[in-house]
Amino acid sequence: MKKYNYPKGYSLLQTTLKTSEFLKHPINFITKSMEQFGDTYTATVGTDKLILTQNPDFINHILRENHRNYMRSDITAKRGAQFFGKGLLFSNGTYWLKQRRLIQPAFHRKKIKGLYGNIEKTIADYLLDFPTGEDIDIYPIMHDLSFRVLIKSLFEIDLSKEVMAELNQIFGELSDFLMKDVNMPIRKIFYPFTGEERTHLKKAKRLREIILQIINERKSATGEFSDILDMLIHSKYEDTGESMTEEQLIDEVQILISAGHETTGNTLSWLMYNLAAHPLSQQKLIRTIDDATIDEVMKNDYLRACIHESMRLFTTSWTSERVAIQDDTFDSYSYPKGTVIVPFFFGVHRDHTRWEDALTFKPERFVEDEKLAKSKKYFPFGAGPRMCIGNSFALAEISYFLFSFFKSYTIQNTAAIPELMPLLTLRPNEVILNIKKRN
Ligand code: HEM
Repeated sequence: MKKYNYPKGYSLLQTTLKTSEFLKHPINFITKSMEQFGDTYTATVGTDKLILTQNPDFINHILRENHRNYMRSDITAKRGAQFFGKGLLFSNGTYWLKQRRLIQPAFHRKKIKGLYGNIEKTIADYLLDFPTGEDIDIYPIMHDLSFRVLIKSLFEIDLSKEVMAELNQIFGELSDFLMKDVNMPIRKIFYPFTGEERTHLKKAKRLREIILQIINERKSATGEFSDILDMLIHSKYEDTGESMTEEQLIDEVQILISAGHETTGNTLSWLMYNLAAHPLSQQKLIRTIDDATIDEVMKNDYLRACIHESMRLFTTSWTSERVAIQDDTFDSYSYPKGTVIVPFFFGVHRDHTRWEDALTFKPERFVEDEKLAKSKKYFPFGAGPRMCIGNSFALAEISYFLFSFFKSYTIQNTAAIPELMPLLTLRPNEVILNIKKRN
């Protein structure tokens, strides 16, 4: 039998004994393991080996340089597709490539510019009723805002409060279920008795019905639209000249909502926490905003640096996974096909051997070194051909929000440091702030 040289790590027995510690707080557990083994280690789950790494060169190897040898594992792709459809995030191989090529142009920076008006207006309307006072938890507010901005950018029609609430609820419930299912595969044996899986599959079916209903409503509405749906409906496959089928359209719309909503809401929440906890950075940001017009928002270096720095310290997409299609090697390691590699983005971004004052919030680092945001040790949106398709959209939304918010409000920290909750994405348990209207 061929012998492989896995990174050091946990045997089957050790991994099994440590499962509850891992499940209690995956980020703390992985961080501790990295301290023990270096920047890469192996875990053994049943007959499978998992390699977890915070070595940026290894991560670039699987996501960029040798990406053709890697795909999403069945655990996420097949299971995710059952609940959220076979859109970009949960597809693989030639089907994924075909869809990515079709959809990519809709997310080109120039196209996203066409959505700025919509994003700006949704945020401005939202800020009219923004709560002020002491001890306000901004997390659900940021979540709600990012949901509205995304839905309004996807479908430029007004949806009823009931439809918005039902959509939001189903997305939340399905994400929670998927998270538990992926982290604890053993739960599956209880599903026939608890009926949990059946209930959630019914919810997934209901989600498709609502999305289809919205698509049809928007298609039959009169007027000109420059929303994402318009771009998706009019995109044509290069080889056949045809558009997506109705089922494919539902798949992709669902994926855009599920991949774009929670990530942006969490990123905004962490950013607000950081700016409240660092009043000097907040004041500096306010000074640069006060001197600027909204048209200059995307060129504001300090504002962009605050976003990058917050995404470095609180990396919403804290991890991912890929499975090797053929045997592969990296450095002195070698491993067989089927090995799952888990890039630990959170760890790379806090590694003190790679970042000076790694645990300090210092937006200046991104101003002083303009190339840092594009460097190969920074992965807030992943890397390579499967890098986040919505990154320009998310950055535009966050920039518009910061600009509009700090023109009218200031925030103060209440000294409560949010707890890290590493679910499918990294969210804070709450972000309690004092919010004041500026004079
Ligand atoms: C701050 C907000 C966001 C963060 C931090 C984020 C992060 C990421 C990351 C890290 C990936 C790559 C995952 C991997 O390689 O396994 C990804 C993929 C993806 N993101 Fe985002 N994302 C954000 C916003 C959005 C938005 C607004 C949309 C859509 C409107 C979106 C749609 C997607 C899709 C469809 C994919 C899958 C791409 C593919 O596999 O081809 N994301 N995102």
